[in-house]
Amino acid sequence: MRRQFTAAANRWEDHYARRARRERYPARSVYKLEEIQKRFRILHPGDAVLDLGCAPGSWLLYAAKTVGDKGRVVGVDLSPVTIALPPQVSALTADVLAIAADAEAFFGRRFDAVLSDMAPATTGSSGVDAARSERLCEAALAIARAVLRPGGGFVCKIFQGDGFAAFAQAVRASFSAFRIHKPQSSRKASREIYLIGIGKREEDPCPATINGQASNTKKAPTTPGAEKSSPS
Ligand SMILES: C[S@@+](CC[C@H](N)C(=O)[O-])C[C@H]1O[C@@H](n2cnc3c(N)ncnc32)[C@H](O)[C@@H]1O
Repeated sequence: MRRQFTAAANRWEDHYARRARRERYPARSVYKLEEIQKRFRILHPGDAVLDLGCAPGSWLLYAAKTVGDKGRVVGVDLSPVTIALPPQVSALTADVLAIAADAEAFFGRRFDAVLSDMAPATTGSSGVDAARSERLCEAALAIARAVLRPGGGFVCKIFQGDGFAAFAQAVRASFSAFRIHKPQSSRKASREIYLIGIGKREEDPCPATINGQASNTKKAPTTPGAEKSSPS
């Protein structure tokens, strides 16, 4: 029975891996974004898109194709992206946890959509992995709150654990519409699921926290007049 299950899972993996190779994507995770896009229409031609946890680069390529050459895609990952990228895409090597508290200054611009497919290195302990995933998600939401234009969209992968309901509630509070989606191309046995926020609210009623600190409260400028105005 177990062998049958494993054989079916392997066939499923092979199907998406083969398709990704054939379609020249570096990872099969592209089909999760494709499904989300077909269903929720988060990306539009001409959009500026921020892709958190972008390596090896499948979502960058898919987002670039969707926004077209008048759009812009900026990726961030701990690991460098080594594939060739179209001209409207740039990829930065950085730790999202380190930039979340001051994302406005770091990016210096607004985005129409923020995507996060970030995943922690897994430990084998589902509780530890879920807690690490939640921390990455909190950082992604803090960044979305700082740099997403009102009306913009948010896609965020999370490993479901104890903090899932609270995080889902925080996303729900920041967007006019909210969905939870498990793509067909995501392994059934995997605890990953995607939260989708559609239409970022102008006023954010519920601050995200980064290490227990509210992330959408502005830090006081250290010298008078030192605070930057919001980039547009
Ligand atoms: C599932 S992969 C993303 C795949 C990508 N969407 C694609 O289609 O090619 C998850 C990524 O999250 C990145 N990641 C994990 N923690 C991160 C952090 N603190 N800052 C930036 N990236 C992080 C990992 O380095 C890894 O490349």
